[in-house]
Amino acid sequence: MCSYCGCESISVVGRFMREHVDIINSSGDLRRAVATADHRAVEEAADVLAGLLNPHTNAEEVGLFAVMRGQEEFTEHIDSLCAEHDTLDEQLARVRAGEYDLLDEFIHVLRVHIDREDNGLFPASAIALDGPDWERVDEQTPEAGGEPADGGHPDDAHSHDHDHPHDHDHPHDHAHPHQHDAHPHAHATAGEPPS
Ligand SMILES: [Fe+2]
Repeated sequence: MCSYCGCESISVVGRFMREHVDIINSSGDLRRAVATADHRAVEEAADVLAGLLNPHTNAEEVGLFAVMRGQEEFTEHIDSLCAEHDTLDEQLARVRAGEYDLLDEFIHVLRVHIDREDNGLFPASAIALDGPDWERVDEQTPEAGGEPADGGHPDDAHSHDHDHPHDHDHPHDHAHPHQHDAHPHAHATAGEPPS
């Protein structure tokens, strides 16, 4: 993750990078659910992940991406990132529907995609955009609606009837970038009933 150019100190970029960490952590929950072969658990984990992923990618596309697309040198790159958003949505839906063999590819595409943003587009944005550009980004970017405090997105049509606490207890305002998936992530899933 980018730790050298200062782009994370730009508030909207810092938010997107923190959301990436939540998304990666949620993909780990999905992997653990798939490992149980409990289809209901997989559906729930996929819904939580979609509830984080969809508002995040939408916020990127209507805010930062829309403004950067105005600079010709970024147009093609942003189009490819948007295409990857669509691929991720499609693959996640297929995993949720039972194509568990697709999980590894989905997570690989997700990680590569996030790396392209964290270490490619976001640092580039810090150089390419000026003050008025960032004001437009802020104006066009929806409020964060997919914060994981309640484990899902308010618009998520799929009910999450799990009642275990979703206590990813990492601080959301930490200044140093780090990914939580590099080590075993022993959070609330430990309290889930065995399948
Ligand atoms: Fe992203």
